[in-house]
Amino acid sequence: MNVSFQPYPATLVAIESLHNDVRVFTFDHQQAMTVQPGQFAEIILPGIGGFPVSACGYVTAGTFQACIRRAGRVTSALFRCTIGDCVGVRGPFGNGFHLPDLARKDVLLIAGGLGIAPIRALLQSVVGGAARSVTLFYGARRAAELLFLPELEALAERGSLCLRLAVEEPLEAICSPQRWHSGPVTDLVDALPSSTATLLVAVCGPPQMYAVLLEKLATTGITAAHIFATLERRMRCGVGECGHCVAGGHYVCTEGPVFSLAQLRQMPGAIA
Ligand SMILES: Cc1cc2nc3c(=O)[nH]c(=O)nc-3n(C[C@H](O)[C@H](O)[C@H](O)COP(=O)(O)OP(=O)(O)OC[C@H]3O[C@@H](n4cnc5c(N)ncnc54)[C@H](O)[C@@H]3O)c2cc1C
Ligand code: FES
Repeated sequence: MNVSFQPYPATLVAIESLHNDVRVFTFDHQQAMTVQPGQFAEIILPGIGGFPVSACGYVTAGTFQACIRRAGRVTSALFRCTIGDCVGVRGPFGNGFHLPDLARKDVLLIAGGLGIAPIRALLQSVVGGAARSVTLFYGARRAAELLFLPELEALAERGSLCLRLAVEEPLEAICSPQRWHSGPVTDLVDALPSSTATLLVAVCGPPQMYAVLLEKLATTGITAAHIFATLERRMRCGVGECGHCVAGGHYVCTEGPVFSLAQLRQMPGAIA
């Protein structure tokens, strides 16, 4: 892995507001650094601090795109930035998703809330590729909080993606029951086909989602080595030195953040 410990200067070239406190930021860093799906970078605001963030998609070489929720001090400072402002970007860090050979495989992506960010990056890399089918289960508390919905629906209309959406509020009568479900995204697993031998699954969501979802997936017959989840931990150095991110005896920043369920079962406490 080619990690840069020095921040690259990067210019903010686009800001798109998706929801109240969630925006997509695109940075032009003019370096040969590509943050692969599931990997992360650190965005540094000089004099303020930095924070880790996943790549949410690919624009062109020399750009980094991230979907960011305003959470606290540093992300709030980024939300005050405007086009043309300069930040630092360090990375890429972590392993990313390394799905085995996709030929004749069915890919199932599952995202909860802001977990759609790395899953969207992965979706962009698998749609139109060797996989036999690509399905996305995506859940949020309310329909208005589902991010990237127009582009996901456009992919589904083109037949490139089978899309199922789950929200925890009652549904309007106009929502198609084939696509929409009222309840947690974990319910959608109940509708998986009985033969799951060809399924590869990638999951990103809040910890409480993992506690139910990962073992539920395994009960459908999907092998634990074919279920991948990305862990989010408080990080400091990002390069395996400070020990801040250790979960179940493993460094999430360097060995992860993507782990298979087979690995997570050997990491006590890594998932709640
Ligand atoms: C590998 C990785 C990938 C990430 N990808 C994204 C992403 O794509 N988009 C995005 O918006 N955020 C992402 N995050 C979370 C992001 O790093 C935090 O929201 C950010 O550090 C908050 O910084 P802050 O200074 O604004 O907030 P702070 O003032 O540091 O914290 C504000 C609040 O956020 C909570 N918080 C901070 N960091 C984390 C964390 N790692 N996990 C859970 N809660 C946290 C704090 O407990 C506090 O309640 C990712 C984190 C990691 C480790
Ligand atoms: S963040 Fe420092 S060891 Fe992982």
